[in-house]
Amino acid sequence: MNIQKINQHLKTSWLGKKINYLPETTSTNDWAIKEIEKGAGRGDLFLADFQMAGHGRLGRNWESPAGKNILVSLMDALPSDPAKAPHLTLVAGAAFCDGINSHCPGITVKLKWPNDLFLDGKKMGGVLSVRHPDAPLVVIGIGLNVNANVSDFSPDIREESTSLKISQGRECERELLLSACLNHYEKWRGIYDQKGFLPILDYWKGHSFILGKKVKVVEVNQSYEGVAQDMDSDGFLLVKTGEVLKKVVSGDVLICS
Ligand code: BTN
Repeated sequence: MNIQKINQHLKTSWLGKKINYLPETTSTNDWAIKEIEKGAGRGDLFLADFQMAGHGRLGRNWESPAGKNILVSLMDALPSDPAKAPHLTLVAGAAFCDGINSHCPGITVKLKWPNDLFLDGKKMGGVLSVRHPDAPLVVIGIGLNVNANVSDFSPDIREESTSLKISQGRECERELLLSACLNHYEKWRGIYDQKGFLPILDYWKGHSFILGKKVKVVEVNQSYEGVAQDMDSDGFLLVKTGEVLKKVVSGDVLICS
């Protein structure tokens, strides 16, 4: 990663003023959380070219070949109501979706609740947010498959994963894409602060990959099938099973073929 190039294309006022980079680390999220104790604050970025223990949602691993993709954690302040911290995962999803779509004309990235970026019906990125237990900060980790080839994905996720390169047939400059996404994050966080959650919700609904589709929801103690009907005013997914509308708070949402 060429940090200077990222700086040259950032148009932000607070995000990315300090960029921390390591060729490899355990997980940019873990690294960022540890740096809070040493004074890291809002807007700091943590970037790596390889993670030895990248985390995904629901305790999964996040795998990414060295030097091909984007692995970034950005530090943001909690919303004024800390109970609304989960909104920031959705802000990041909207911002990165908007950033990629603006930077790469001709492709349409969509959003799969609650944290996936989808391209051509396959996963090309994900968001994982972690709250610091004491500080009023949240670390938002984003992994984007940019220049990975099909053979870079392990066989168990190969079918369901993709990258910008696989979709477009050519490489994408990671630094320019990341700057575009970060510019969009600052814009969307500003919209959230000024106008509340509704514009974020509207963006999600307008770019949703699952609304209207038949899904299977797998939660810790139950699983059920239904139609992904809507998102509620707080961003939770509403799934219609028979006559009942169920609110999905966490859990895995699988698209039924
Ligand atoms: C998911 O789709 O399950 C979320 C994936 C999030 C991956 C990113 S990569 C950068 C940051 N560091 C991590 O360990 N995870 C996030």
